[in-house]
Amino acid sequence: MGTAVATARIDEVASPSAKPRAELHLGSLQASKKRILFVTSELADLVKVGGLGDVSAALPKALSSRHDIRVLIPGYRQVLEAGLPIRIIGQVGGLAALPPCRIGRLDLPDGLIVYLLICPELYEREGTPYGDGHGHDWPDNHIRFARLGLAAAEIAAGTACISWCPELVHANDWPAALAPAYMAWRGLRTPTVFTIHNLAYQGICDLQSSPELALPPEALSHEALEFYGKLSFLKGGIAYASHVTTVSETYAQEITTADFGCGLEGMLQGKVAEGQLSGITNGIDESWEPGSDPHLVEGFGVHQWQGKRANAEHVQQLFQLDDVDGPLFAVVSRLVQQKGIDLTREVAEHIVAEGGRIAVIGQGEPELEQAMVELGERHPGRIGVQIGFNETDARRIYAGSDFLLMPSRFEPCGLSQMYAQCFGSLPIARRTGGLADTIEDGVTGFLFDDPTVDSYLDALQRALAVYHHPQLFDAMRCKAMASPLYWEESVAPYDELYLRLLGDVREVGGQD
Ligand code: ADP
Ligand code: GLC
Repeated sequence: MGTAVATARIDEVASPSAKPRAELHLGSLQASKKRILFVTSELADLVKVGGLGDVSAALPKALSSRHDIRVLIPGYRQVLEAGLPIRIIGQVGGLAALPPCRIGRLDLPDGLIVYLLICPELYEREGTPYGDGHGHDWPDNHIRFARLGLAAAEIAAGTACISWCPELVHANDWPAALAPAYMAWRGLRTPTVFTIHNLAYQGICDLQSSPELALPPEALSHEALEFYGKLSFLKGGIAYASHVTTVSETYAQEITTADFGCGLEGMLQGKVAEGQLSGITNGIDESWEPGSDPHLVEGFGVHQWQGKRANAEHVQQLFQLDDVDGPLFAVVSRLVQQKGIDLTREVAEHIVAEGGRIAVIGQGEPELEQAMVELGERHPGRIGVQIGFNETDARRIYAGSDFLLMPSRFEPCGLSQMYAQCFGSLPIARRTGGLADTIEDGVTGFLFDDPTVDSYLDALQRALAVYHHPQLFDAMRCKAMASPLYWEESVAPYDELYLRLLGDVREVGGQD
């Protein structure tokens, strides 16, 4: 699988048994900060499928002034080939069907330290972190991500030949969910946080896989991973973490109900009763600044719409849209059921009839991709569709558009609406999860209640009415741009949680 190329940049500077000097040095220098291991399956800039990647890059960066926080991700091919030097600093042995791995370290240009779990047979493949990129998940995902969880537990236990040892482990979503579980089964007392970014993806596998993953008998109980005769990784994260968070306050309430709980609502209600579930709304990275973002065709600020127009003209050309007056709508989204793409398809005819144009960028489920392509073919010059994703185009679309369409059926937090607001594009979104928490209806965007075409059209009509009143439209754009929810301002609840779990009474935000 091309491992010779992929691993060519890896330097074996330390034998696993030797103590890595740089690690020790850093450890002593940063003794006053808490050591946190952030375990995730995506990291923006290196590998991202959606918002988890953005959060996994931006949150540790924002926390790094307060804590010695390091990220653990699988060594996917695109990560190993990113051109950044990698040093081998440790290793973990094999267990059951989980193969042995080496642990590499790379330092991102912004200073974030990333540990890579290097195992060519599991991670060095063409495709996304989860599948072949054509709608098929990898059949051995339970092995790939149990391996990630177990490696985190071994780093926490100090058995990965790395001298740096976390005081707290923060695992994210189902791919990292077994980290708290393996830690508990090994009797580790290190506190753990498990963050649910999306309850709908649970990492389900057959109960018969249990010996492959070296699960102890207790793992198979209903209080642990067992879920309707299968194993749910996500359930393991919820069961064993010291504290569970999710990415907005509204979603934290929603997931305790049958409508949003994906069968786990009872267990989550139990967590609430024990004070072990909370919602912490995501922030965004400070690179989302329309005056200085190097991705944009031209920068702009509040009331400086010339730069915004330049981005709109670029998007118009890129998507071969007609040069006509009228609002430009954007869809920047994974093309999956969650995102209400079918609803947008229904209201698209109406948008076109009202003189609007739509630029769509994203990828996901093959049927929804196809539906979007057909929509574009039905309305050449009015609806442009790009299947795929690239960050520069995405940012220019947020910047050039007047409105962002985000009719999600559920939305744990959502970052796209915050990016759009920052760039003066007003979201038209469903009142659910983080969308309800980050959009002020009629002030910084438009919200509708029901996942129906009628409810959506109602918000759309209100948006069009505002568009035709330039003063009002300007006022809303300026308001949306005025107070971006950057992580710097929203990181405190995580800091507070870490310190509480660590039994540290230090005042939140204070430095030692
Ligand atoms: P989700 O994580 O559910 O996709 P968010 O709104 O939290 O939704 O995050 C979306 C992020 O992912 C944004 O940075 C957006 O630009 C990006 N994005 C959207 N579609 C894709 C895609 N197909 N591939 C990669 N990133 C995407
Ligand atoms: C998930 C959710 C999204 C959230 C993102 C980052 O992918 O679908 O709503 O913003 O994770 O937390």
